[in-house]
Amino acid sequence: MQPHLAFTGYLGRRLHLGVCGSVAAYKALELLRMLTATGLGVGATLTASAERFVTRLSFEALGAGPVYGPMFDPGHGPFGHLEPGQSAHAMLVAPASANTLARLALGLADEMLACQALAFEGPLVVAPAMNPRLWNAPATRANWETLKARGVVCVEPACGDMACGEQGRGRLAPLEEIYVQALRAATVQDLAGIDVLLTLGPTRESFDCVRHWSNPSTGTMGAALAVAAWLRGARVHAVCGPVALWLPQGIERVDVTSAREMHQAAMDLFPAAQWACCTAAVADFRPEPFGPGKFKKDSGPLAVTFLPNPDILAAMGQARGPGQRLCGFAAEAADLEAHARGKLARKRLDLIVANDVTAPGSGFAAPTNGVLVLDAQGRLERWPVLPKTEVAWRIWDWMLALSS
Ligand code: C5P
Repeated sequence: MQPHLAFTGYLGRRLHLGVCGSVAAYKALELLRMLTATGLGVGATLTASAERFVTRLSFEALGAGPVYGPMFDPGHGPFGHLEPGQSAHAMLVAPASANTLARLALGLADEMLACQALAFEGPLVVAPAMNPRLWNAPATRANWETLKARGVVCVEPACGDMACGEQGRGRLAPLEEIYVQALRAATVQDLAGIDVLLTLGPTRESFDCVRHWSNPSTGTMGAALAVAAWLRGARVHAVCGPVALWLPQGIERVDVTSAREMHQAAMDLFPAAQWACCTAAVADFRPEPFGPGKFKKDSGPLAVTFLPNPDILAAMGQARGPGQRLCGFAAEAADLEAHARGKLARKRLDLIVANDVTAPGSGFAAPTNGVLVLDAQGRLERWPVLPKTEVAWRIWDWMLALSS
């Protein structure tokens, strides 16, 4: 899993996973591993058809508990059909068959999974997998619309080659998409109603049509912040430099290349943002272009003039309105605290997160970060080296405390 999705703070929260009969049922085992790695406690229910493809034992062996089979299985006690609703914060059905979608839409309670889902009052996520003709059937279309209208989180199946050799829509959605939707459903929505703007990744500044000036930022820290805010219910806009990171569809993503493009995109979005956090490693300078085409190596020595780029965060600091909260990052190689204090004041920030890019486990491309955090009220903390997802979570906790 990409490090910006590897959240670990879900100990004490629970999710119930329903699995239906589909050749994609084996993928539910991988989903279970992804979900338990967050700390979530996961129970599971396999329909009778699911048990033709995968076994209860596999789910138990990978950490699921309790694991339910048929309604009247003596091992479940008299109230197994009601139990997930008493302990789980969210329910996920993946893969969901055409049959189970129909049961859910109608509210049938004639077998264990459908009955548990009917009795479940929390958020429900469904991710179907089926043959395209089953998916396109008018009855399935109607059931899908019914579930959406009821507020069920409906993860559309993907297009592609089917196990039966046909092509079309019906493949189980990518596991990352199902994982983040399930995680969001199990997350306390304490940032609901907040508009968050992020910049992330490097920028590229062209010398000519084939060369650029840039830096090794992968955007992991900013992407972890974007996903964490979205999981917690915020509306998120992410202005991304060139990065190879996947972001959930629910995040409004704007892809840019140069610092000037990032500046334009971010400043267009800034007036509507309540919180903005600039994590991008923006190139402070751009080479003066050589003109159209490519600079040839036999054209003589290469002399480059660098022009300053706009400082996006400083521009936000100047433009900010009274309700807006601003967070910046500082990548430093020495004197962390002094530089952090200077930038916090100069750029008119509420919060600054500084890291020593030369320290082990910190900085560009690492999945972890060791940071110093300082706010405008003078509170300062040094955190140990933590996963970037955990750093992200704590930064939003701090921003939330500042706003209240
Ligand atoms: O001044 P310095 O580049 O160290 O400040 C770092 C902070 O400013 C980061 O939050 C970075 O995203 C932001 N920044 C920016 N535009 C620039 C340079 C830095 O938004 N041109």
